Amino acid sequence: MAETARRQTIPVCEPLLLGQESAYVQDCLRTNWISSRGKYIQEFESKFAAYCGCSYGVTTTNGTTALHLALASIGIGEGDEVVLPTFTMAACVLAILYTGATPVLVDSDPDTWNMDVSQLEARITPHTKAIMPVHIYGHPCDMSPILDVASKHSLWVVEDAAEAHSAEYKGKRVGGIGQLGCFSFYANKIITTGEGGMVVTNDPKIAQRARALKDLAHSPQRRFLHTEIGFNYRMTNLQAAIGLAQLERINELSEMRRRNASRYNSLLAGVPGIRLPVERAWARNVYWMYSVVIKDAFGASRDDLMARLTQRGIETRPMFIPMHQQPAFLQRGLFTGERYPVAEELSERGLNLPSSSGLGDAVHAVCSAIGEIAGGA
Ligand SMILES: Cc1ncc(COP(=O)(O)O)c(C=O)c1O
Repeated sequence: MAETARRQTIPVCEPLLLGQESAYVQDCLRTNWISSRGKYIQEFESKFAAYCGCSYGVTTTNGTTALHLALASIGIGEGDEVVLPTFTMAACVLAILYTGATPVLVDSDPDTWNMDVSQLEARITPHTKAIMPVHIYGHPCDMSPILDVASKHSLWVVEDAAEAHSAEYKGKRVGGIGQLGCFSFYANKIITTGEGGMVVTNDPKIAQRARALKDLAHSPQRRFLHTEIGFNYRMTNLQAAIGLAQLERINELSEMRRRNASRYNSLLAGVPGIRLPVERAWARNVYWMYSVVIKDAFGASRDDLMARLTQRGIETRPMFIPMHQQPAFLQRGLFTGERYPVAEELSERGLNLPSSSGLGDAVHAVCSAIGEIAGGA
């Protein structure tokens, strides 16, 4: 039944588990290493970190906890401010709030949809401790100006690369560009562990601190003695086994995403009123979500288009609702009266089209449906 339903719908995103995932998980089961110790954890951490150009990787339960752990490991807390884009997923602001720090927002670049770096410096105050660039939908942020501002004001750069595994900025993989990089391995990500996350860094002290905090912060002198507040953010060996198998195919999986994007780009090029994603000259966009923005010339609204695609068995998602429009944050007195026109427009007009690595020829069905709707069908 589920199989039939799946075949009739083109999902917005589904994982592709066609490598050693099952064999490695079976190995965990056969050898009884099913909890958070075991060879797959270590191998996944070291190989994924190395893939990002980093010496250390610390696995976590998900991308949200990776962000929280990263911030906690560098001592971000009450009275501190962290600057991030309003156009992102709530996990970023939540992670900042968990530490007791205050999120400070900037608007987006209208083309890449990432943090508008020209607005960054104006948001820095004596309380600012970190910048959190988020590589939205797989396109890297313009990191050089971010690193310049960070260096000028002695700030940490904590990259949120949850959506951008294997994306590159000027030939360097994201996640390994700031002092810390955070990843999610949720099932729709370029590589997955089901649920999971990782912090990567080149700083041995940060890695050691993250490792202690994620495992309840046992005192180094005496296990079960706690002199500070830690968390249980441990990933299981079973999840890491899936992650390692996925990592073995990461280049192929991200290339598949790029191939989908290039087919979308050529098939949608002639459709009026539809703005396509960009790839800056310095970027390798991995198109985690192939996303478009619907302008008036399209002839139907974004919501209309989504409804009509749903009728045709094509799943989509609206783009993010910006952080300054989230009731949960406004109720806490955050972002009162703030307006960010680019993020607001993206939120009203943008949508994610089916983006699975294994999408293949289904791109044609999606594009003909869009073409028909644009033509008034
Ligand atoms: C930009 C961004 N940051 C963080 C997260 C949180 O990751 P997770 O869902 O694994 O907690 C996500 C999730 O999709 C995300 O898109």
